[in-house]
Amino acid sequence: MNSIRIMLAANSADDRKLISGLLTDEALRVVSSFRPDADGLKKASSQPADVLLIGTRAMPSQELDFAERMFTTRSDITILLLAPTLDSRTLTRAMECGIARVIDIDSSEHDICTHIMTAANRDQNRRNSTQKIASYDSKIVACYSPKGGVGKTTLAVNLAYALATMNKKIALIDLSLQFGEVGVFLDIAKGDTIADMVEEHSFELSTIKSYLIRHQSGIQVMLSSSSPEYAELIQPVHVNAILSSLRTEFDYVIIDMGVAFGDCAIAAMETADTILLVVNEDIASLHDAKRSIKVLEALNQQDKLKIVVNKEGISTITVKNVANLLEATPVLVIPYDLKAAMLAVNRGIPMLSCAPNSKASKEIRNYAHALIRRV
Ligand SMILES: Nc1ncnc2c1ncn2[C@@H]1O[C@H](COP(=O)(O)OP(=O)(O)OP(=O)(O)O)[C@@H](O)[C@H]1O
Ligand SMILES: [Mg+2]
Repeated sequence: MNSIRIMLAANSADDRKLISGLLTDEALRVVSSFRPDADGLKKASSQPADVLLIGTRAMPSQELDFAERMFTTRSDITILLLAPTLDSRTLTRAMECGIARVIDIDSSEHDICTHIMTAANRDQNRRNSTQKIASYDSKIVACYSPKGGVGKTTLAVNLAYALATMNKKIALIDLSLQFGEVGVFLDIAKGDTIADMVEEHSFELSTIKSYLIRHQSGIQVMLSSSSPEYAELIQPVHVNAILSSLRTEFDYVIIDMGVAFGDCAIAAMETADTILLVVNEDIASLHDAKRSIKVLEALNQQDKLKIVVNKEGISTITVKNVANLLEATPVLVIPYDLKAAMLAVNRGIPMLSCAPNSKASKEIRNYAHALIRRV
């Protein structure tokens, strides 16, 4: 086995010595050590390594800031924290800072070494597998982002439209259960909704299909509940029943997920073949995306996850920065095109229909072609 190269960050020389002494397994090799401060950041940003191990015998504070800074600049390393038992707030903060695992500093040497090796190997495998995702087949495609307004509905509606114009049989499900807008984007003023369907307590394919509204493009739409208070009628078991029935009947089931990460969203993402995580080039969106990726990893859904950058060109953050930060090359980059997007929403017509030649439309169409070629 190749040795695991460790950068060690701890505030005092004593701590650095103590922690080095705990790394007794010969697979672990400390390649540099420094304080978690500005000088340390400089050293850590260019040192070839597999793991950044940040150690402290007190409650971490400066250490977490250090981790956070490293996390945004180095996507190629695993960040671990060796510390006394943390309270739940500090633990949550540690995870948000990109720390992959917190290891109890009072554990045995053997346990500490095992934790480091397991976390480093797991991260390495994950990095390798995200590079292989490109050939994953799609059938149920969930458009998700924990951040509002990034373009989930725009993507879901236009991807559905693109596939429908390529003679595919498409169902578009609005699972943005409280404030779904698929109806607005497609100028469907009213009709039966998912809440109406659930109230009927029948999940036969024929019943489910009778609640789909046909758009002139051929897309069959299931609208979200007409009012937020009906959203809670919908349970994960309903989501599972709807998706598993429709997948037998349609070439693609596209889901507009909304921002909620509740049980229904998890059920949808677990059933989906592909999760398109929509991000914008802004720090808040990327921060939220990073956190979602961690949760999806914890749910073992990482292999179906793909990144879509929408509104590209709105900031100095580049697609390359996004790829580095999220450790995956985006499968689709949609340029910022306010004119086309506004025209589409205001008219209730998909952007691909009212502005077919806009670069944004072309990119979505190309991605739809790519999806079809893979199936
Ligand atoms: N590529 C783009 N260029 C310019 N504007 C865009 C683009 N994509 C989407 N928009 C606009 O951004 C706004 C938000 O888009 P959209 O409703 O699709 O986001 P969302 O993630 O579904 O939001 P919510 O979280 O509220 O459901 C809309 O006004 C839409 O027209
Ligand atoms: Mg939306």
